[in-house]
Amino acid sequence: MNTRKFRVGLIGGGGIAQAVHIPGWKNLPEVEIVGVADVSEATAKKAAAAAGAKHAFTDYRDLLNLDLDAVDICTPNKVHTPAALAALNSGRHVLCEKPLAVSTAEVRQMGQLADRKKLKLMTAQHQRFTAPAVAAKAWVDAGHLGEAYHARVRAMRRAWLPPAAGFIDAKLSGGGPCMDIGVHALDLCLWLMDFPKPVRVSGVSRTMFAKGKGIPNLWGEWDRKRFSVEDFAAGFVHFDNGATMVLEAAWMCHQPENEEMTAQLFGTRGGVKWPNAEFTTVINGVHAQGSLTNPTAVPHPHWNEIAAFTDCVINDKPSPVPWTETIKVIGILEAVYRSQEKGREVAVKG
Ligand SMILES: NC(=O)c1ccc[n+]([C@@H]2O[C@H](COP(=O)([O-])OP(=O)(O)OC[C@H]3O[C@@H](n4cnc5c(N)ncnc54)[C@H](O)[C@@H]3O)[C@@H](O)[C@H]2O)c1
Repeated sequence: MNTRKFRVGLIGGGGIAQAVHIPGWKNLPEVEIVGVADVSEATAKKAAAAAGAKHAFTDYRDLLNLDLDAVDICTPNKVHTPAALAALNSGRHVLCEKPLAVSTAEVRQMGQLADRKKLKLMTAQHQRFTAPAVAAKAWVDAGHLGEAYHARVRAMRRAWLPPAAGFIDAKLSGGGPCMDIGVHALDLCLWLMDFPKPVRVSGVSRTMFAKGKGIPNLWGEWDRKRFSVEDFAAGFVHFDNGATMVLEAAWMCHQPENEEMTAQLFGTRGGVKWPNAEFTTVINGVHAQGSLTNPTAVPHPHWNEIAAFTDCVINDKPSPVPWTETIKVIGILEAVYRSQEKGREVAVKG
């Protein structure tokens, strides 16, 4: 009997690694977390202890010298590409936190390398693994939406600006709320739309409040000098099938909700709104609406995501969140920034 476990190493052992990735890996009996690499020695040791891992390193190249099947990347965004390329080049499958990269060129580089080496590459878009998202996807795939001709994507926070340098310093994050939270709702929406090809975007990205003191932050103070990303962005997207989308993302704004994270699809037969999988339609000539619920679903999307990645590697299935989908997500976000720079509508790269 083969008793060898599936051997995983983590690159980046901070917030998200400790809160959900390590518990998610530990939930799988077939998995062993072998080591953790983090530039902070204290964090590497703390995360390795939490993971029950033997090794803690401050340089991920040392981690890659271990006998590993897969690597899980939980670093600030700008480290995703170099870490993933190093892991793929050393023959490891890669699960990587969102955004997979902050440019389409990087996503393509990572994806093509994974394909050439016949390795799995998955973006950790855990929202796809929530019960309402799975239910909404099944409803759309069964034809109840008809043709999706328009969508509205909102990732708008009133005052939840993440103070860590990894989010607010463009050199580490590559973008503000667009890349941090817009990416969640946008990926979810495109997934429900079955990933039409985005072709043109007109966008704005601005710093409205984060350089001043106009809105008190629910997550405390942040370094305003280091703040070098947008705190608000919006875009209007055209797809090659004629569909359109309005996208809005903010870490701070004047709105009553602390957070509105929604993806709403308008179809020729019905409409659906995530995250509560509320649907509207017409049945027998009368208006009908409701919400899709699955009371038996496992309520832990991050754990489900990690289990899906492990399953795709062990059983050689397609990546549950392939780079060919992610490149369309990043293409739109990248185009929002480019449109702001150029002051006009731009073509989406990909
Ligand atoms: N899916 C989600 O819900 C979710 C939530 C939060 C964060 N994230 C993503 O997870 C990633 C990490 O975010 P976080 O909140 O855990 O940040 P964090 O700052 O808490 O942790 C990041 C860790 O990476 C380490 N690090 C930095 N450079 C490194 C390098 N070169 N090699 C090894 N380690 C390095 C840091 O020391 C830190 O411990 C980001 O990409 C973020 O977008 C996803």
